[in-house]
This record gives sequence, structure tokens and C-alpha cells, in this order.
Amino acid sequence: MTDGAAGPAGHGAGGTAGERRTMGPLPIRVRRAAPADTRAVLDFTRATWDGWDYVPSVWSEWLEATDGVLLVALPAVPHELDLFGRPLSADRPVGIARVAMLSEREAWLEGLRVDPGVRTRGIARLIHAAGLEWARAQGATRVRYATGEDNEGSHRLGVHHGFRLLRPWRSWQPPRDEDVDEEDAGAHAIEGETDADAPCDAAADQDQFADLADEPEGEVPEDVAARARGIELSPTERAEDEGSPPAEDEAFGDGGPPEPDEAHRGASPPVASPGDVRRALRRAGLVLDPRSPEPGVDAWYRRLSDDATFLSGDRLYETRSWAFQELTRERFGAHVRAGEVLVLQAGGATGAGGAPPGGGARGTGDRWALFVMPLSMPGSTGGRPWAAVAAGDGELLLRLAIAARDALGRPIRLRLPDDAPAVQGRAEAWIAAGFPPAPETLHLFERSLEQGAPIDAGAPGALTLEEPPRRVAAAYRR
Ligand SMILES: CC(C)(COP(=O)(O)OP(=O)(O)OC[C@H]1O[C@@H](n2cnc3c(N)ncnc32)[C@H](O)[C@@H]1OP(=O)(O)O)[C@@H](O)C(=O)NCCC(=O)NCCS
Repeated sequence: MTDGAAGPAGHGAGGTAGERRTMGPLPIRVRRAAPADTRAVLDFTRATWDGWDYVPSVWSEWLEATDGVLLVALPAVPHELDLFGRPLSADRPVGIARVAMLSEREAWLEGLRVDPGVRTRGIARLIHAAGLEWARAQGATRVRYATGEDNEGSHRLGVHHGFRLLRPWRSWQPPRDEDVDEEDAGAHAIEGETDADAPCDAAADQDQFADLADEPEGEVPEDVAARARGIELSPTERAEDEGSPPAEDEAFGDGGPPEPDEAHRGASPPVASPGDVRRALRRAGLVLDPRSPEPGVDAWYRRLSDDATFLSGDRLYETRSWAFQELTRERFGAHVRAGEVLVLQAGGATGAGGAPPGGGARGTGDRWALFVMPLSMPGSTGGRPWAAVAAGDGELLLRLAIAARDALGRPIRLRLPDDAPAVQGRAEAWIAAGFPPAPETLHLFERSLEQGAPIDAGAPGALTLEEPPRRVAAAYRR
């Protein structure tokens, strides 16, 4: 269909004789991105969401990333003009998408963007199809993405491609505008963390879990374990590591964690190193002992696996900000070994003892709360550390959130399934403690890519893959 409509004011017709402005479906070619695409991509992503798009800040990392594929779409039909009268030359990227492998079988789609000059012409649908083909070629059998609850285009795309909507997730954290820390502002731009401000998908750093990626199932990556065993630990912490109890004033004792500290509710203090963060959490006695024997880790994972809040989130967790995957026993174990699992048990007992609920030196009851708090992710310690999964007893969960926040001296973020039993009926208490719920939810979509699952690549000739999809993701290859 050719409509010849003039572009918005200020965009004069830029085409040459013979070029037409059309509004119908635009056939595309899709190939892997190259550095030469940078200028065009940044040109059209800079303006997304009034400048809130994180793509410009991560584009160069994505070009280098080895955990997936970065795709660009190019017009397949020459001699056309876009909505603003600019030529759609064959080498002009008009859309992008990235496929990240989060585990051997789980793909995450992110960074889907279409140049405003060619929107509503079916390009996103076709890029999505290309992304699914590439995800399948990486060995993915399950693929997910996230978007804001109001992003109708993204929702419709999901429906079109056979995705099902999982449960909505909602952040609980102080509003962003209370932050004063520059580093935090950077983390925001990169991570798209604020539900209200960032309508879609994810942060990106391809190597943030590289240290867990190449390890055989069930084994703890040596460098992670080494880090958990003592790197960056002070002599005092080493003593604690050797089994000495934490000093009186460093443990919560039976009185539980301190009351919320007004100063910690909004503004972020100066940047903390991962070492500082680990030390602070350990000093507060919140960290499940990284040397917990395997049966202890099993017991905690069993508890988690039966927990109604964990199950309400489809057993998923937010590995990196805005990217969700299944929390398997292996991954849980790796987080324990990395000192990234925080626990609080009834009676004020905390994680340091490593005892599973219902027994052990410091655990007396079977009420417990647990976080996995990734500490080696970009923005995870300098910005707002986040609970990648938060589960357990509702009252203890809030106490654990307060304890972690106060131990770190900075705001933290939790994202919970909207119907999580742990927060049902407790909103007032969370708000009073400085963790108000975000006004909008994040919607997660999921579909299977099992053998034979269809992928709609549009009408014949609509989508040309310039290179047959093949396995290129390195991070999870064994
Ligand atoms: C969302 C976006 C990728 C859609 O790109 P597009 O090429 O215009 O989309 P398509 O033409 O392929 O349309 C796909 C579907 O979305 C619908 N759609 C597209 N734009 C829409 C809009 N602004 N509002 C409502 N629906 C819209 C189309 O009608 C179509 O639905 P259908 O399959 O039921 O007919 C594009 O608008 C964009 O880049 N937006 C900014 C970034 C963004 O939101 N990315 C998605 C993040 S997850």
C-alpha cells in the first residue's frame, strides 16, 4: 500500500526521484549486528521513551557479547522512503533485537526496537521471528521476555508469536527520584530498573554470570567458590569463616534486625565495592554460610521449592536486572557458594550459621525468609542491590529486607510476583518500612521452542535471514 502521506512537520521529503513513501508491510533482511550499524541504531534508539532507552548505553557491549546474538533488520525493498521522507537504503538498520542465553536452554529476548519512521509495518513481528529462530539455533527450548504492563505493541507481539503471559511482577523500593548518587543514576539508565519509567525489557551485561556458565552441572565454579571462601574478606571475616561466631554487636541476636533507618530509605550513599557489600552483609549475619554442606543447601532449596511465594513467581528469579530465568538447584548452590544467599529465621537467627530451618545451632523455628542477592552483576552493588528472588514468611521477609537495606546503608529493590502470598495484606507495613510498591507491573512472557514449535516468519519473502541461524553463543556452551 502506498499512501504518500507527508511526514511530521520538520521532516521534509528527502528522497530522490523514483523513491516512494509507503506505509504497508516492509519486507526485511536480518543479519547479526556490526560496528558499522552503530550510528543508525543510536540515532533511532536515543529518542525511545523520551530518551530513557538503555540501548545506547549498552550497544557497544552488546556488539562484543558472547552470550547470544545481536540482530539488525534492514529494508529488503530499495527505493522507499520512511514516514519522515528519509530513504530506506539497503544498509540502513531499521530495527534491532538481542537474544541472550541465560542458561543452556533458556533464551531471553531484549532490546527490541524499531525505527519510528517504519513502525506498524510488521517489522517487530519479523524481527521477533528472527530472534526465535536464532534462539532455537542456540539450543533454547524456552524463551522469555519482559515488558511494561502498558506496552500494547509488545503484548500483541507476544500473543502473535504464541507467548503466554506469566504472572506480573512488581517492584518494592523507594521512588527513584529520591536517589542522589550519580552512579545510581547510571545504573538506572543501564538497567531500566524503574517500572514506571522504563516501559520495556532489560539491562544487559553479557558476562555477568559467565563465572557460572561453563561449569558442569552440580559443581561449584572454582572462582566463585574461591571468592566465597575468602577473597576480599577481612581478617575478622576470615575468623568468622573459620567458625567463630560474629561479635555481639555485629549480630542481631534475638532482638532481630534494627528498625528501619530513615536515612536509608531513599538516597543512595557513595558507591560500594562488591567486597564492601559482602562484608556488610556478612557482618550483619545475614549470609548463609558459603561452606554449608550440600545436604544443608539441599534442605534450603527444598524449602524454597515448596514456598508459595517462590511458586507464585513460576520458580523464576531475576538473575540480572530485568532478566528472569529458572532458579535451579545448581544455580541456587552456586549462589550459596558465592555468599549471595541471605536468610533470616524465626527468633532472630540469621544466615551465618547456615542451618536449614527447623534445626541447627541458630535456627529454632521453621519460619524463615530468604533472598538471593546477586552481587557480581553490573549495578548490583554500586546502584541498588536487588533480591533476585525473595521468598518465605511474609513478616520475616520484610525484616530481612530492612536488615539487608540497613546493613548496606543504601536502598535495595525487591521485585515480587504480584500475588505473592508473602506480601498479601502487608502493603501498609512495606510502605511504612520504606518499600512502597511501584504503580506499574512488569509483564513476563514465555513460550516453548521445543522441536516442532512453529515460528511465524510472515508472508513468503517478508523475512530474509542473511545467514542461517547457527550456534554462536559461547557462555553456556559445554
Ligand atoms: C513496540 C515496537 C517494537 C513495535 O514495532 P512495530 O514494527 O511497529 O510493530 P509491528 O508493526 O510488527 O506490530 C506488531 C504488533 O504490535 C501492534 N502495535 C505496534 N505498535 C503499536 C502501538 N503503538 N500500540 C498498539 N499496538 C501496536 C501491531 O498492531 C501488531 O499487533 P497485531 O499483531 O495484533 O496486528 C515499536 O513500536 C518500538 O520500537 N517501540 C519502542 C520500544 C519498545 O517498546 N520495544 C518493545 C519492548 S519489549
